[in-house]
Amino acid sequence: MQRWTLGEDDVRNQESLAQAADMLRVGKLVAFPTETVYGLGANALDEEAVQRIFAAKGRPADNPLIVHIADERQLADLLPTEYMPGRVEKQLMDAFWPGPLTLLFPVGQQVARSVHPGTETVGIRMPDHPVAQSLIRLGGVPIAAPSANTSGRPSPTTAAAVEEDLADAIDGLVDGGPCGIGVESTVLLVDDERATILRPGGVTQEMIANVIDLPVVYDANVTDAKAPALAPGMKYRHYAPNASVHVWWGEPEDVYGAMLALLIDDEAPSARPLPKAAVIAPDDFLSRYEFPIARELQQPLPHEAYADALAKSLYQLLREFDHQGVTDILIHGVNPGRGLGTAVMNRLQKAAEGRVFRV
Ligand code: TXA
Ligand code: MG
Repeated sequence: MQRWTLGEDDVRNQESLAQAADMLRVGKLVAFPTETVYGLGANALDEEAVQRIFAAKGRPADNPLIVHIADERQLADLLPTEYMPGRVEKQLMDAFWPGPLTLLFPVGQQVARSVHPGTETVGIRMPDHPVAQSLIRLGGVPIAAPSANTSGRPSPTTAAAVEEDLADAIDGLVDGGPCGIGVESTVLLVDDERATILRPGGVTQEMIANVIDLPVVYDANVTDAKAPALAPGMKYRHYAPNASVHVWWGEPEDVYGAMLALLIDDEAPSARPLPKAAVIAPDDFLSRYEFPIARELQQPLPHEAYADALAKSLYQLLREFDHQGVTDILIHGVNPGRGLGTAVMNRLQKAAEGRVFRV
């Protein structure tokens, strides 16, 4: 695998991106940063290249890929010839592109079949990241890119995390530093009556409702149980570290009580050693309460904008605690009804395999 580390030198950066773009154009796999997570890219018009993505990730064949573009003219490569985006789609593109919003459109014939298994729609987004944009522009083709992790593992928000999962399976990796948002894009289906959030993400329900005059619906359960056909990716085990994840949200003292109850087994205080546990929580919470675990396994995040901080560092922390052999990760959750909290709690629900509690 070829690895390019971008830095201060613009000429070197341009050379590196041109090499990476050449690889993409000829059907190779190149991972690159976006504002959400690292993506594993391939030419979306090249069926063999797209199939290699599925092989590299061990991705279920029925899970469609998001296609990334650098400007709206590239939509023409992806949509049916006679199709024009409607008024609501235009409002959404104007408001949120470039940015973490994936819109579903009817798919054009040129798009590789494996990009959209079992569906005649294609998910498209324009990433808000200078490296992703340059790469797509230089490559000159739309880029299909799922998150650049092995299927089922936490998404990568650093180049090192991509390397850990995929070094032997891909051709190139552009290291553009850590990602800013940390959770994936919002996937949105628009029809005449409503806009349905299939996967909550970087663009929140409130933000969408502010720019369109259709109701914006999100059902936290629909994506898992009832509508795998709508959002195929949501039915799989996801974002899971090796450690067991446990999440509580509510009043701080109640969250603390629940964490302690798990850490200290009253029934047999001496018979069972404490598991090697870690805690992720707001900094003021960790300094207020005592935990019977090592300091270095207590991960404080700024209590102001805690949901954003959790989104940004969650996947990386899950990976780091795995490296340290942690058995249980206890996480102070957030209100899933607010802002980025919806996306974060959706990912935690999967990482914790349902062990998420309102206390
Ligand atoms: O932020 C992101 O979206 C990142 C970066 C790399 O852009 N990409 C990403 O891709 O998260 P992936 O493949 O890990 O997740 C794509 C999600 C899956 O849940 C998939 O089922 C859904 O989007 N999806 C893609 N195309 C779809 C389609 N045509 N219909 C329904 N769901 C679709
Ligand atoms: Mg993914």
